[in-house]
Amino acid sequence: MPLCLLDHPLAAHFVTHLRDKTTKPATFRTLTYQLSLLLAMEATRDLPTAEKPIETPLEPVAGRVLVQPLVVVPVLRAGLGMVQPFLDLFPDVSVGYIGLERDHETARAHSYYCKLPPLAGNRVLVIDPMLATGGSAAQALALVKAGGAVDPRLVCIVAAPEGVAEVERHHPGVVIHTAALDRALNARKYILPGLGDFGDRLYGT
Ligand code: PRP
Ligand code: URA
Repeated sequence: MPLCLLDHPLAAHFVTHLRDKTTKPATFRTLTYQLSLLLAMEATRDLPTAEKPIETPLEPVAGRVLVQPLVVVPVLRAGLGMVQPFLDLFPDVSVGYIGLERDHETARAHSYYCKLPPLAGNRVLVIDPMLATGGSAAQALALVKAGGAVDPRLVCIVAAPEGVAEVERHHPGVVIHTAALDRALNARKYILPGLGDFGDRLYGT
């Protein structure tokens, strides 16, 4: 259960085009939107609902509505590319922001920004497309837990086994949703086969 792999032919199709080094930023952003939409559906599959009696034009029916507020927390920068589908699907969603950047030499992430809405009692999803060493995700999860999140989830697009293990080591039992589980990290801690630097490809930098 802690690792939920998005198992859908459309997801595989989108991931393949994201990986392709000839894919340009505009298409890369669209593919990120499309994959994040599929992941958002998966990661919210167990949101609680409550009965709501309504009347259709024909007769009364016991409908169901969402009852737990949702908070998404993108990890800057790359996580920003995953926010819009959550806004589109969940109009009442709150958005927090965590700024983390990996040092290019050490691959260690340092925090440069954190602004979180109230988290206690809410369903909290940390969204960051790349789970490489797991350092960024472990820090982000620690920050949302310190902010009151109980049982936060992690939503990413490509995960490396090393990152999954690191998250499990620091945050046992945290559920990770991903569209791909890749082979390994290279010496510079980039994911293989991966797709390169997600933030750079998203924003053309
Ligand atoms: C990328 C990515 C993750 C992190 C993953 O961000 O978006 O946040 O690397 O790597 P890790 O699992 O080894 O910590 P990056 O630091 O490149 O910053 P950016 O999004 O601003 O480009
Ligand atoms: N961050 C990225 O953007 N890509 C990787 O492969 C690893 C970390």
